[in-house]
This record gives sequence, structure tokens and C-alpha cells, in this order.
Amino acid sequence: MSTAPRCDRTEAWSRLADHHAGAGRALDLRQAFAADAGRAEAFSLQAPEVFADLSKNLWDADTRALLLALARECQIEPRRDAMLAGEPINLTEGRAVLHTALRAPRGAAPFGDDVHEVLDRMLAYVEQVRDTATSGIRHVVNIGIGGSDLGPQMVVPALDAYTSPALTLHFVSNVDGHDIAPVLRRLDPRETLVIVASKTFTTQETMANAAVARAWFLAGYGEGGEAAIAKHFAATTTNVAAAAKFGITTTFGFWDWVGGRYSLWSAIGLPIALAIGAENFRALLAGAHAMDRHFAEAPLEQNLPIQLGLLDVWYRNFLGFSSRSVAPYHQGLRRLPAYLQQLEMESNGKSVDLDGEPLPFGTSPVVWGEAGTNGQHAYFQMLHQGTDVIPVEFVAVKTPCYRAEGIADQPEGVRAGLADQHHKLLANCLAQSQALMLGKSTDEAMGESAPTASKALDAATVARHRTFPGNRPSTTLVLDQLTPAALGALIALYEHRVFTSGALWRINSFDQWGVELGKALCNQLLPRFASGDTAGLDGSTAALLGRLRG
Ligand code: F6P
Repeated sequence: MSTAPRCDRTEAWSRLADHHAGAGRALDLRQAFAADAGRAEAFSLQAPEVFADLSKNLWDADTRALLLALARECQIEPRRDAMLAGEPINLTEGRAVLHTALRAPRGAAPFGDDVHEVLDRMLAYVEQVRDTATSGIRHVVNIGIGGSDLGPQMVVPALDAYTSPALTLHFVSNVDGHDIAPVLRRLDPRETLVIVASKTFTTQETMANAAVARAWFLAGYGEGGEAAIAKHFAATTTNVAAAAKFGITTTFGFWDWVGGRYSLWSAIGLPIALAIGAENFRALLAGAHAMDRHFAEAPLEQNLPIQLGLLDVWYRNFLGFSSRSVAPYHQGLRRLPAYLQQLEMESNGKSVDLDGEPLPFGTSPVVWGEAGTNGQHAYFQMLHQGTDVIPVEFVAVKTPCYRAEGIADQPEGVRAGLADQHHKLLANCLAQSQALMLGKSTDEAMGESAPTASKALDAATVARHRTFPGNRPSTTLVLDQLTPAALGALIALYEHRVFTSGALWRINSFDQWGVELGKALCNQLLPRFASGDTAGLDGSTAALLGRLRG
């Protein structure tokens, strides 16, 4: 086990506490920019495919220097290297953590032969299926949940410009039949490929949906259905034996050293590869690998994932922010917040350290959000004027990219309109980070006319309602274009940032025992729905069971 100290037992932590008590918590972004014309540049970093403006965050050069000292004292570099070398850093499960090996060129990381054998075989299969005139497949249904769903479900719409119009992807995850039923009712089994995606091949939701899909397929296909399963079903799993038992012979495997929420780079990425093709899937992997190298090689002063992780620790443990909002200003990234929820909250939602000692400080923030500009018309009110400070992470994409057949054939008026919309999108993104930081004083509000304000109220009262405190922090990440490589780099950036805060907190970011209890209790409750037996249940659960039983 790593002997690296926990963050709160270091000298840098005490110095950060002193710094926080003084200048650290008093920092005013408006004054900081006024005092330093070079602030934007000094707090910006360029990593592969991703530029980051960190200057609208509540830190100064001293804060950053102390956080870097903290990272060094917590031995972030040797711990990172241990992960990349395949040491069993997932201590509670005795496993290595090697999602980075899935995107490394052959020979550059452990298990290269295994990884590239499956990758080559999977991508050859992908090209066969994508030859729709021959394969006859027009629809792909991915059945999986959590890490076996959220990655592909996020990436496929993000890379819409790279997807084939000949193949439509569908995602089914929930055990609720309202998820799968509307999907299947639109499909013809003879034109459909069903992927059963499950690391363990035991997950209740996925097994239930897979059984329904199988019954639907056999009923709809008619004669020869059993034999046709070989062509119309595929499994992506570490448990190939269980897939075979289910009757699926087309399988692509992966390994226990790939965590579910880190698995989109493995065979779990099959729906992504089917959507964007082999070459683009390799570009996605290459983009992630470029970020891996940056994480592994860039000095801490220029290391973007490490600096983001350090800011997260500063915000959570010193400034007391318990939430972070993600605002991707690209409709294709609308599932990014949900993807990041699992990545960060399942990884770092822990309350004991590696030794099992209860932690005296907070860990994972709540991660949430919505694509911009939609979020502006929902909850940004609270970000601007609510009582809690919530750091916001904007993701902006400089150049839009539409699927060719959707836009190239459109009349000039449509294309000009879309170009104009993109400028509006980016202006909104910048305006929000500006407004969060600048705010509006009561005096400024007094000086403005407020035509919609009630005439029954005096001007000073109205002005107080129209005051914005400002000094609210944000980060802006900028991609030139949402290419497969850029998206790969962005996702890898988030993975390594989560590693960084988890390493400083000295927690195991790679297990997820917290999901077990609910699963076990569900299995105990299930038979009671048939029997009606409520013996031994608490009063609330017994009453609710009685009410919900059919
Ligand atoms: O929710 C817990 C979890 O184990 C996740 O970590 C995982 O991504 C998900 O369930 C799905 O698991 P599987 O891929 O084994 O079906």
C-alpha cells in the first residue's frame, strides 16, 4: 500500500489553512484582474486538444504554489506512476487500474497484446456491421447500465458529425420497462443488432433487459431465430462464460483491471465504434493517450489534470464548496454531466481512507449540470443569486461541426443562420462566466431602469433584488472542434483530475462498495412483492410495499 501521507497530515495542508485564514479566502476576482494584467495568461494552461482558462477561480499565485507543494508532499507523481505501471492500487479489490493501457499504442503499456487483439478483432467486426448493404443491420441497441452505458451514451451524440446515417444507435439502461419497450416497438429484429454490455454479466437491470430483448427477437424473427442470435446479439464483458450461457457467441472481452466507469475505451466502446467507425474510434483512443502522456510527463506547474484536481481540493476542503456545475456549451455534450456524475461521484464518494480510517474532511462534490444555454433558463438563477457558491465549469467548442448530409445541402440562409447561432452560443458562454465574476452592485442596480419591476416597491428594495454578489468562480475549457481526438483528450483529462483529488484525499477511487447495500436489499424485497410478506420490515417500507403491490 502507498505510504504517501493523507493531505491533512502534511505541512503544506497547515500552510494552506493559514493562507486560507488570511488572503486565501478574501480573494476578489475583480480586484485580482484589475491588479494583474497578466492574470489570464498566468492561470491558463494548454494540454493536448484542451485549453483551460483557470484565471476566474478563487486562487492566486500563493494558493497555487501551496497546492503544488501539497501535491508533492502527497507524492502525487509516484502514485500516478504506480497506477500507470499497473500496480494494484485498487487496494480493496486487489486490482490494477489500467484504463490508460486501453488507449496506448502496442508495447507502450502493460497487457498490450491482449488489448490490441480484442481491439483489432472488434474493429474488424465493426466494419463488417457498418457495411449495412451486406450486414442488413440498420439499428443497434446497447443494453447496459452505469459504466456500461454512460460513456457510449455520452460519446455517440457528441460525435454525431462522425456517425453513419445508415446505422441508428439506441441505448437502454433502466430496469424500468418504459425504457426498452418504446425502443423495441420501433424496430425490426432482422435489421437489429443487440449488444449486451456488462462487465460482470450479472447486473440485474441489464440481465432483465437482455432477457426481454431476446424474447422480443425470437418472437419477431420467427423461424430460425435461435440460430440468428449469433448474428444479431453481441456481448461485451469480462465474463465471457456467462455470455455464452445466455446464448451469445459473438463476444468481446475485457479485464478486471478496467473499472466500469473507465471502460468506454474497452469493448464497452463497441457502440461508439459502430457509430463512428474504426478509424475515428482509434482517433478517440489516440486523443486520450495524448492526455495520458501529458498527465504522466508534464511538470506539475503545467499539468492540467493535476491542477484541476488541486483546485477541487482547495474548493472542497478550504472554501467549503460541496458542489460543481458542469455547463457544456455544445448540445452534443448534453450527456457529459451525467457521465461525469458517475466518474467523479462513484470514484470519490468515499468517507474512509486507504487504511479504513474515517475522514475528517469532505470528498467528492456533487457534480451536476446541463448543456448551455438550456441551463441558463433553469438553474443559473441560483448560481448567480443563490446563497451557495457553486464553481461552474464551462466547456466551449470554437468551431461547430455538423453531419455533412444534414447541413451541406441546406440553402445558404440556413447555413448562415446556424453560423450566427454558434456565435450566440459562444457569447452566452462567455457572458455567463463574466456575470458570475463581475456581479452587479446595489448602486449599479439603482442606476438602471427596471421596467418590469413593481411600481408599488421603492427603488432601493427593487435594487436589492436585482443585486448580484459576483466573485463566483468558473473554469472555461476550450476545444477547437469536437473531434474524436479532442473528446478522447477531454474525457481522459477528467479521469486524471478525479485520480488527483482522490490520491490527495488518500481514498480508493476505484471501488464502489456503496452501491452494494441497495442491491442486496432489493433482492430481499423482490420476493415480498409476490408474497406480500412484510414481517421484519420497518414500518415505512412495509406500508409502501403494501401500497405498491399490484
Ligand atoms: O452501479 C455499480 C456498477 O457496478 C458500476 O460501477 C458499473 O458501471 C455498473 O454497476 C454496471 O456494471 P456491469 O457493467 O457489471 O453491468
